[in-house]
Amino acid sequence: MAQQAEAQTVTAPDVLDRLDLGAGHCAVGGLQWGDEGKGKIVDLLAQRHDMIVRYNGGANAGHTVEVGDQRYALHLIPSGILYPDKTNVIGNGVVIDPAVLIKEIKGLRDRGVAVDKNLRISNRAHVVFPYHHVQDALFESALSAGRGDNKKIGTTGRGIGPCYADKALRSTAVRVGELLDDCHLGEKLRHIVPLKNVMLGSLAQEYGQTFEPFNVNTLYQQYREYAQALRPLVCDTSELIYQATQQGKRVLFEGANATLLDVDHGTYPYVTSSSCSSLGLHTGAGVPAQQVGSLLGVAKAYSTRVGGGPMPTELDDEIGQRIREVGREYGTTTGRPRRCGWLDLVAVRYSARLNGTTGIALMILDVLAGLDRLKVCVGYKHAGKKLDGFPAEAGVLAAVEPVYEEIAGFAQQIDECREYDELPAQARAYVELIERHTGVPVRIIGVGPRRDQIIVRS
Ligand code: IMP
Repeated sequence: MAQQAEAQTVTAPDVLDRLDLGAGHCAVGGLQWGDEGKGKIVDLLAQRHDMIVRYNGGANAGHTVEVGDQRYALHLIPSGILYPDKTNVIGNGVVIDPAVLIKEIKGLRDRGVAVDKNLRISNRAHVVFPYHHVQDALFESALSAGRGDNKKIGTTGRGIGPCYADKALRSTAVRVGELLDDCHLGEKLRHIVPLKNVMLGSLAQEYGQTFEPFNVNTLYQQYREYAQALRPLVCDTSELIYQATQQGKRVLFEGANATLLDVDHGTYPYVTSSSCSSLGLHTGAGVPAQQVGSLLGVAKAYSTRVGGGPMPTELDDEIGQRIREVGREYGTTTGRPRRCGWLDLVAVRYSARLNGTTGIALMILDVLAGLDRLKVCVGYKHAGKKLDGFPAEAGVLAAVEPVYEEIAGFAQQIDECREYDELPAQARAYVELIERHTGVPVRIIGVGPRRDQIIVRS
């Protein structure tokens, strides 16, 4: 309980008065390739909302929130769970690995965080099974076999793609609502598991991997137990959000992963399998468009990416290495080192347009302190010609030449700054350059990992 008491008092709520979020609900989403620091922004804004809703992705995501000396790494549960009086929703667009979710609930309870009816799970969300993990790994091996590692998507290995593929295929998918019905679950698994065993067994044989066929009864017993644990939390979450809206409650939508990983609009095929941009919240939570009033886009002050795929501003030098070490740029979910590079404003401008971003939260600006010069990509050239917009083909993006604008860096540490005017002039010039090139105001600036290390601009 001690953690929750602290959770209510650590961030000065008055800075939030400066953020006029206007009428309607609010959405927060990443404008790059993920890991922008969305967890911290959701955590901050949760104070002014009654309900926090996750609408996409699965245990591939990882949000880190620091409260005092405690660090919480959340994968499936919205970070609003750290406040005792908020309802947290895992919407229908999420793919849920019950083993991960139950472990996460237990981990929070063990640390004194109450998890009960303050967490609700959609009966329409899809369920991840162990065969999805195996399928994920086998497909990745198949993509790299004889073709070099660069064709791999570099997935998190959490079974996300195969589970969404089954959702689209329908006959091999299981929804949370079905999990709760013993008879139905048994019937489904008797149909699905032999199919998976044939498919995965022959793939494994082809690529020289070992494969242990799945047993229907073992899976059935295991998932029945999961169903028992989750049953009290399951409901029609779209209806729950509707009822909250009717009662004048404020809802915060938390987009997992990020816009450039969106299955439709990201750097396809090097993306995840869900609709990560704010466009996905309407289907992923079952909420109509006109109910969302403000859209906060979260961008890191530089670029990072995990996994494969093009990243025009990637730095394979000591500056990239320095950013990785100072920024602790290692994955929350997989621990993989993140690829680091200069801020890419062509990408951020594209993402901001797609999301309808009304304000930017610029995170982790402190990590750039001490660099002599800062480069920002403001355009792309391809085959010697300036490109308009953000290319749809990964091959074109991989071949672009970034056009940089270069400005002086800032030597001073900025982690103690709490007002915009306290930032060094060069740091302010950096922020204003971002506003000029994106046309979107920077409303929040992150200057350190802790909850209170934040500047909010009116
Ligand atoms: P998947 O979502 O595990 O299928 O992975 C697809 C791609 O998205 C890989 O390049 C992952 O590294 C990337 N990815 C998925 N989730 C995240 C995230 O939360 N942060 C950063 N990258 C992610």
